[in-house]
Amino acid sequence: MIPLMKPDIENGEIEAAVESLKHDKYVLGESVIKFEENFALYMGSKHAVSVNSGTSGLILSLSALGIKDGDQVLTTPMSFVATANSIIHFNAKPVFCDISMRNYNIDVEKTKTMTRGKKTAIPVHLYGNPVDITEMSEICREENVPIIEDACQAHGSEYGNKKIGTFGAAGVFSFYPSKNMTVCGDGGMVITDNDEIAAKVRKLRDYGRVSKYVHDELGYALRLNSVNAAIGLVQLRKLDKMNDARRNLAKLYTQKLADIEELIPPQETKNGKHVFHMFVVRTERRDDVIAAMKRCGIECGVHYPIPIHLQPLFKRLFGFADGMFPNAERLSRDCLSLPIFPSMTKDELNCVSENLHIFFGR
Ligand SMILES: Cc1ncc(COP(=O)(O)O)c(C=O)c1O
Repeated sequence: MIPLMKPDIENGEIEAAVESLKHDKYVLGESVIKFEENFALYMGSKHAVSVNSGTSGLILSLSALGIKDGDQVLTTPMSFVATANSIIHFNAKPVFCDISMRNYNIDVEKTKTMTRGKKTAIPVHLYGNPVDITEMSEICREENVPIIEDACQAHGSEYGNKKIGTFGAAGVFSFYPSKNMTVCGDGGMVITDNDEIAAKVRKLRDYGRVSKYVHDELGYALRLNSVNAAIGLVQLRKLDKMNDARRNLAKLYTQKLADIEELIPPQETKNGKHVFHMFVVRTERRDDVIAAMKRCGIECGVHYPIPIHLQPLFKRLFGFADGMFPNAERLSRDCLSLPIFPSMTKDELNCVSENLHIFFGR
């Protein structure tokens, strides 16, 4: 069986978890502080504040930017639903801008006429491939619209040699087990250079606390546990190596599959460093391919079969309908994620490639 994805967990992570269990304070212990310090250092950001999921990171970042009832937030319809859900939690309205078929991210050119009057914009670096973030930052700056980068799939990804997540007012990461780095459970991080945003996220994740039993804001319990942070610290040290492995596998896939015309290869943003959270090809025969691969013991995936605007919740709340965002709908119909994970062997990749060749009669 070749899985779609597999976290790279070795003795280092296990030993760090045991060590934390034995010696750390379970909540907001030493490992949490170290993980945050090292994450900020790696990213080149002033602050890193850990939380218990990427979703929490998005919600608290929006809160820190002062989002309120009735505000409008610009984002992409092609992402995991959590991106747009975070907006609805505030009774605010997601305003979708269709994706570009050039890199499957929000169409930055189109955002030019859409940023005015928005409270914030949440571009998503889908599959680990950067948004044209410099251009988007300039567009948003002109209209005074702060950006929250959803970098939940893009740990270590870069645009023009600068880390993804450091372009906006805040950058948000997820450490869910399928991600490029994990804490072996749920977890997330908000990075920012802005002292107020960092302080606000830090406070809100911890009951709105100013001191042990004094609370001056309505906060939550959204902290990352110390054992998870200890694992995250080890994963962070391995992140570049794991991303290199993903990029090498992607290169090999691209070479091996080049002769199958029915498969459109992944798109890479110019000036960007794609970290291949997913290796996504496109084919009109997507569902047949998935079934055939399953019979050969190969697990494939679809990210995502329903664009966010067509999720039942979004149709019901906002009246979104078929045909509103044609590029996202097209990608939803024909995107196919092939197995990719750092410990994937060349033999495993060859097996996927050979079976795809057989399926397409090559
Ligand atoms: C693009 C994107 N945004 C947000 C999230 C939410 O992260 P989490 O699952 O950690 O809440 C995810 C992860 O699933 C994601 O892929």
